[in-house]
Amino acid sequence: MEKILVLDFGGQYNQLIARRVRENHVYAEIRECSSISLEDVRNAHYKGIIFTGGPNSVYDPASPTFDHGILEMGVPVLGICYGAQLIAHMGNGLVRSAADSSEYGRAVLNVNTDCPLFKGVPEESVCWMSHSDFISKLPDGYEIIGHTANCTIAAYENSEKRIYGVQFHPEVTHTEFGKSILRNFVLDICECHQEWLMDSFIETTVNEYRQQLKGKKVLLALSGGVDSSVAAVLLHRAIGNDLYCVFVDHGLLRKNEGDLVESTFKKGMGLNLIRVNAKDRFLSKLSGVSDPETKRKIIGEEFVRVFEEEAAKIGNIDVLAQGTIYPDVIESGKDKSAVIKSHHNVGGLPETMSFKSVVEPLRDLFKDEVREVGIKLGIPYDLVYRQPFPGPGLAVRVIGNITEEKLNILKDADEIFRAEVGKYCKEEIPSQYFAVLTDLRTVGVMGDFRTYGYTVAVRAVRTDDFMTAQWSRLPYELLEAVSNRIINEIQGVSRVVYDITSKPPGTIEWE
Ligand code: XMP
Repeated sequence: MEKILVLDFGGQYNQLIARRVRENHVYAEIRECSSISLEDVRNAHYKGIIFTGGPNSVYDPASPTFDHGILEMGVPVLGICYGAQLIAHMGNGLVRSAADSSEYGRAVLNVNTDCPLFKGVPEESVCWMSHSDFISKLPDGYEIIGHTANCTIAAYENSEKRIYGVQFHPEVTHTEFGKSILRNFVLDICECHQEWLMDSFIETTVNEYRQQLKGKKVLLALSGGVDSSVAAVLLHRAIGNDLYCVFVDHGLLRKNEGDLVESTFKKGMGLNLIRVNAKDRFLSKLSGVSDPETKRKIIGEEFVRVFEEEAAKIGNIDVLAQGTIYPDVIESGKDKSAVIKSHHNVGGLPETMSFKSVVEPLRDLFKDEVREVGIKLGIPYDLVYRQPFPGPGLAVRVIGNITEEKLNILKDADEIFRAEVGKYCKEEIPSQYFAVLTDLRTVGVMGDFRTYGYTVAVRAVRTDDFMTAQWSRLPYELLEAVSNRIINEIQGVSRVVYDITSKPPGTIEWE
């Protein structure tokens, strides 16, 4: 299959670059610049190479670089921001630092529309700049093809070698014609065919695993989340009932969710699914525990124990299947991965269990590609596009110690909130929205009686990446309906509040 190399120099938008390439149905893979040699690049027969941005200055001796030979391979190259500066620097051009020339944010870009990189791009458009260094002189053989008011060399080309550089970021949506620029590079300049299609991905993957896993027992922990669900249905297509899906219902799921997962995947999709109802076990371990991290740890450990017991009952498992996706693979190659993983793998998989091998059928896919595969496999839309749900579940949304009574109150409140959001937010559904049961009780009046009940908080946020988030400006009518319904329909609640904290400084979850 044809592929584009996204050579990572540490920029923050690198995954976005690869996704933008793949939107054109061309496979792109990200490799850290220090993790791949010139020989590896040559042997991989890439159709094109993109140098990403990065936080460094090219003239800093410690800054990341690459073997100059990469520009002499005859493969088209596009440098973005730092990547563009690096190409200029490698070819004996000049890169300067000048505080008064730094540009952050939107800028008007003027381009030479005859250049193939700018096919279909108007002479003047908006681009997104983020740099303090700038290229002051191009190497021989290179020409300027774009400028802004502050940046004389905002884009350049070496048409003979098919090497291009842009000082701005075509991958971010603020660059009006960024998608066209990347498409021109990938399809016209690199002459890639549009072969990266989810239908063929499914067919190839199913065929491969059918061969590879023939006669083997495969175990998968199904959480009901998108990744494990898609991995399960894909593998089930390949090996049928040799795939054993274990769904541990820890009792901390949203209302009716355990039944929904079971009916969707067991009855609907015909998976070989074992549901383990372990609520009592989890609640007894959590009894009296109020510290959030301790809760997470207990749940993680208990999950592993239940999972191991079920695996032992099935016996002779050869292979473990996981719903790892491409961003997980990229993250695990970086230092920060340790933190991210321990956070998100709560309710994850036992490290101590020994399997002969592990399969990860989604390890090359971005989340939106996983969703597309899910839809093509016939998984219901609501499940494929569901909002994220933390592994420790409602345990981190009942503040303080957890009791069955509190859990039931939260499940009811959360169900009401989700139903009303569904009713009122037809156009713009928040990225994540849920109820939290605070540990605070307050006084209220109902009829002639004084009440003293819990405070429920509702939270809704808008985000692309869940690393930062804005609190959603929900309509007042929605908030009013939610408040009325929660107080009237749920005993033990006397107050409803709306969380107006963005992230940062808040986190999305309360615990
Ligand atoms: P925070 O609260 O860190 O959440 O802003 C960011 C995203 O991660 C989810 N989240 C978790 N997911 N295990 C998970 O699998 C966890 O322990 C966990 N804590 C938070 C959260 O729901 C949001 O989508």
